[in-house]
Amino acid sequence: MDGNGRWAERRHLPRVAGHRAGAEAVRRTMQAAVDAGVEVLTLYAFSSENWRRSVEEVSDLTGLMRFYVERELETLQREQVRLKLIGDPGAFGPELSGKLHAALERTAANNRLTLVVALNYGSQAEIAGAARELARRAVAGEVTPEQIDEAALAGLLQTHDLPPLDLLIRTSGEVRLSNFLLWQAAYAELVFTETLWPDFDEEAFKGALAEFTRRQRRFGGR
Ligand code: FPP
Repeated sequence: MDGNGRWAERRHLPRVAGHRAGAEAVRRTMQAAVDAGVEVLTLYAFSSENWRRSVEEVSDLTGLMRFYVERELETLQREQVRLKLIGDPGAFGPELSGKLHAALERTAANNRLTLVVALNYGSQAEIAGAARELARRAVAGEVTPEQIDEAALAGLLQTHDLPPLDLLIRTSGEVRLSNFLLWQAAYAELVFTETLWPDFDEEAFKGALAEFTRRQRRFGGR
């Protein structure tokens, strides 16, 4: 969800205004995903590298998420959206963690769209964590090194209960993955758009889905 800062800058507004507009784009995109019958939508809301931002910006983002998780709980229920978190959201303090936890519990039985929010997430740390757990199991004699394969590792990622990633969209003209779902993106189609995240809407989402359907997926075959 890149481009909030630039969106604000172009309007001579503080960065937080860009994040606020970005949160509105989250609402629109979630609705577009529900309407399109998408099974899972994962949003990269805060990377483990985003702590390098100013204390003020981190606090603005935390406040925004606190506000939205409370305000949008009704929408999640109405649209039958199940919330799931990946990353390490505990780092945002007890208030946001508490609200997120309540939202996870309240929406657990919803079965239309799974909305995965990546919070304090880093893909390399996720993969290292899975490798560490496999090593621990090997040392404990629970698995042999020969049993460690792609499925064993994928089964220990935080996305283990989600279907394979089909489409990855990055906004604002940046053309890199920035530590997002690196393992999971092995066969994903990548769509890069110049649209800044706050301008992302249903039309842009449908455009990315249309691009996806035009791609020929071969998964290494011919
Ligand atoms: C990247 O734009 C955006 C973020 C680091 C924050 C994303 C957060 C939200 C959209 C707000 C709330 C989230 C939820 C789930 C309600 P940037 O600041 O890096 O933009 P720039 O590259 O133009 O500076």
